[in-house]
Amino acid sequence: MVDFLKQLNDSQRDAVTQIDGPVMVIAGAGSGKTRVLTYRIAYLLSKNVDPFNILALTFTNKAAREMKERIALLVGEGKARSLWMGTFHSIFAKILRIESEKLGFPSNFTIYDTDDSKRLLKSIIKEQSLDDKTYQPGYVLGRISNAKNNLIGAREYNEDYEIQSADAAARKPKLGLIYSLYQQRLIKASAMDFDDLLFNTNVLLRDHVDVLYKYQQKFHFILV
Ligand SMILES: Nc1ncnc2c1ncn2[C@@H]1O[C@H](COP(=O)(O)OP(=O)(O)OP(=O)(O)O)[C@@H](O)[C@H]1O
Ligand SMILES: [Mg+2]
Repeated sequence: MVDFLKQLNDSQRDAVTQIDGPVMVIAGAGSGKTRVLTYRIAYLLSKNVDPFNILALTFTNKAAREMKERIALLVGEGKARSLWMGTFHSIFAKILRIESEKLGFPSNFTIYDTDDSKRLLKSIIKEQSLDDKTYQPGYVLGRISNAKNNLIGAREYNEDYEIQSADAAARKPKLGLIYSLYQQRLIKASAMDFDDLLFNTNVLLRDHVDVLYKYQQKFHFILV
């Protein structure tokens, strides 16, 4: 019996030690979910699961850092280091760097932060002689981000009748053009923005069965 299990209550222990098949935990704020995830990973490692086969995704860098530190204390630095643990964005960036050529990017592609994205949009809006009150970079980026999070690429955006009608009605008919130019410029700069990290990982796993298969074989345990 592993003694760190004593630091859990009964429900937490159930969630940690049930390792065959999927497990979903529904619990309120501050009730010990992060502790469950952390100990579940420690428990898997104590059962000799290879850290290489574990993927743990968090929403914030803070949570990822805390979990990593805690797991290192529970199972040792060495094992903790080989875990794939991080935010959705950081883990997807890691996968995209490994598989970048499948998507036509160099492995050292640049990641644009929000300011980089806004700066690029500002110059596109200027080059197109568009009114920067109608097309405020922050607003345009929000629209593009929303599209990407719904897996709507620039081409689909421009070919979607409903989106085009809505933009025309809102007197912002050039949003689709700006979206296309923005993606072209990102590609030319070998860059992805934050939303591309999610969008492109979806494309990668959707359109490249060999890559999908590879990560399905690698990750036996996925914790979110
Ligand atoms: N079984 C336990 N015994 C004692 N303390 C615990 C136990 N489980 C969790 N805690 C403590 O309670 C606090 C909240 O736990 P945790 O961060 O795991 O909760 P959470 O559900 O992830 O919270 P949040 O909703 O904020 O993400 C932490 O300080 C944690 O160390
Ligand atoms: Mg938490």
